[in-house]
Amino acid sequence: MTTPAAVIVDAAAYAQAVEDAVEAAAAYYAGGTSPLDDDAYDRLVRGIAAYEAVHPEQVLSGSPTGKVAGGAVEGDVPHSAAMLSLDNVFSAEEFTAWTESLARRVGHEVTRFHVGPKLDGLAIAARYTAGRLTRLITRGDGTAGEDVSHAIGTIEGLPEQLAEPVTVEVRGEVLMTNAQFEYANEVRTQHGGQPFANPRNAAAGTLRAKERVYTVPMTFFGYGLLPLPATDPTLTERLNTSAHGDLMRLVAEFGVHTSARTDIPDTVAETVEQVLARVAEIAAVRAGLPFGIDGIVIKADLAADQQAAGSGSRAPRWAIAYKLPAVEKITRLLEVEWNVGRTGIIAPRGVLEPVVIDGSTITYATLHNPADITRRDLRLGDQVMVHRAGDVIPRIQAPVAHLRTGDEQPIAFPETCPRCGSAIDRSEERWRCAQGRNCHLVASLSYAAGRDQLDIEGLGATRVVQLVDAGLVTDLAGLFALTREQLLGLDRMGETSTDNLLAAIAKARQQPLSRVLCALGVRGTGRSMSRRIARHFATMDAVRAADAEAMQQVEGIGVEKAPSIVAELAELAPLIERLAAAGVNMTEPGATPPSPADAAAPDGEASPGEAPAAAPEAGPLAGMTVVVTGAMTGALEKLSRNEMNELIERAGGRSSSSVSKKTTLVVAGEGAGSKRAKAEQLGVRLATPDEFGALVAGFHGGVTDRPGEPV
Ligand code: IVH
Repeated sequence: MTTPAAVIVDAAAYAQAVEDAVEAAAAYYAGGTSPLDDDAYDRLVRGIAAYEAVHPEQVLSGSPTGKVAGGAVEGDVPHSAAMLSLDNVFSAEEFTAWTESLARRVGHEVTRFHVGPKLDGLAIAARYTAGRLTRLITRGDGTAGEDVSHAIGTIEGLPEQLAEPVTVEVRGEVLMTNAQFEYANEVRTQHGGQPFANPRNAAAGTLRAKERVYTVPMTFFGYGLLPLPATDPTLTERLNTSAHGDLMRLVAEFGVHTSARTDIPDTVAETVEQVLARVAEIAAVRAGLPFGIDGIVIKADLAADQQAAGSGSRAPRWAIAYKLPAVEKITRLLEVEWNVGRTGIIAPRGVLEPVVIDGSTITYATLHNPADITRRDLRLGDQVMVHRAGDVIPRIQAPVAHLRTGDEQPIAFPETCPRCGSAIDRSEERWRCAQGRNCHLVASLSYAAGRDQLDIEGLGATRVVQLVDAGLVTDLAGLFALTREQLLGLDRMGETSTDNLLAAIAKARQQPLSRVLCALGVRGTGRSMSRRIARHFATMDAVRAADAEAMQQVEGIGVEKAPSIVAELAELAPLIERLAAAGVNMTEPGATPPSPADAAAPDGEASPGEAPAAAPEAGPLAGMTVVVTGAMTGALEKLSRNEMNELIERAGGRSSSSVSKKTTLVVAGEGAGSKRAKAEQLGVRLATPDEFGALVAGFHGGVTDRPGEPV
């Protein structure tokens, strides 16, 4: 599959595109710092080629089309034979068409193909004289390259001495394995350098760097073996007439690393089908390889077929690259989230500006641990190279440091566990909540005890940690079984605090069902959803009896959410039963359970996913949608926003957080701003906190107050 070429509409856009492409290619070959990812560069060059095909008279001499390396580089060491590039195909159809044109050129069908990985690095020529590695040359413009002999000794798989004293040129790809890349960036940033964006840029930059105080290893994969003018004539003859597969075996025997020693060794195929099957096999294991490949190279294996096919100025006609989809794109790192796993591991995750890689939209990428962030010198707002292959979770390779604007911000690391608030164990690279597996328990208990749930005063995170550490509480129901003696046995627990806590726990038993539900922390149900469920079903028994269809009758619960809520409640059944046994209230004051007829509304009355209109509630706010804004005063002063919303719903209304034409009343306290202005603009009725307090007087009260009973 290939992404569309860039669309170039006129001569000015064409000139700009040529300039951008040349600049990108030059930057890339100079030090691995292209501002375009491979896919973007490829699209640009294909757009340029498409424009040139229609306007051949406008082709600029600097155009990158038809040139090796986009015409970006020149060197001063002439190649013994041109170092060519490869033409590309992107699909089985294009590949089949290529084999047909190959057959025409050769004069018969080709029945021996050599199939191997297209390694994602840089081409180099390694000259051996009497078995000794004497010179390393980059591809350059294909006719002459740059001498990079200083890199001899830093490239694994490219021995300084061959097993035989032969004079030959070995050609192949220099790359960094994923591990070498990680190491290179670690060393580089430690020395105050900027990280490389990906392994290929890292290999390009490292290969050309002459004076470095540190060396970072790279890896060589041989894919070609040629005679030099000084080569023994018998060997020259052998090299010129051997099948490619035989040359690869020979080069391996000399001691050079080839793909034979990887999970995807070169193979020989006799038919198009066999080639395509091998392409599929290589593509399937790509994500798990320890190095990057960007396609599969298919060559006519026999020397006679190669000679009959010949070469163009840019690429041989006897070989083709079957490109695999790009697995890397550049996008922006917007945020870093810290998630705590089941065992308490605190793992950072990057939130990205959405980017499409190989057909999927990527919005998150793993960052392994905090040290990883430091090693890569990542910052918020950075343009980052994101890698995604197969079903593997996308990862951030590195920032594209030369695209920095100076506005990037450091990434803040958490001081305490982001889930439960406990200390963090930083003794290993992977940070862990000091609570380990108990972190989830501490977090869920702290949440349940919170002001908007069971509102247990005196049960903050520290106290919860103490209870969990002492083994006194293993689930929410355990809180209600705590004894005076147990509490007194804890550090910093005197008689007064013990009695206060026990009283707060006793009071929590009387909380309405909505808060008990909320305390259970069912995924996808926060405070207002819990209130809607509780008001709809009125009792925990009715909630638990509801199937997905009945659950969908609750406003805001659609076809997707309903089954997961039902399933989670079923999972929580033992805990709910323990809570009920501990005397926790399981009813919603003022609500009436739905009649069986409501629960089984026939199809057509409500379309799936859309909640039917709630039954009109009794109370002064019946049928009203109320928005609260600004600070409350008077009788309502102490109420949290959640408590205000509870009050509105107890009084028969519906609470909302935004003002629209559907809003019936806006309660505007001190400091109310835009919501008040919007209400005025839309002509929505406004009330002061006092006016509102008077309206709902009979419904305002503590947890034990019954609706209708004035305070
Ligand atoms: S054969 C004359 N084999 O891909 C034949 N090239 O996009 C050209 N490459 O310039 C080389 N893996 O740098 C060949 N197994 C492989 C390769 C390979 C990677 C590179 C090479 C070439 C480029 C073309």
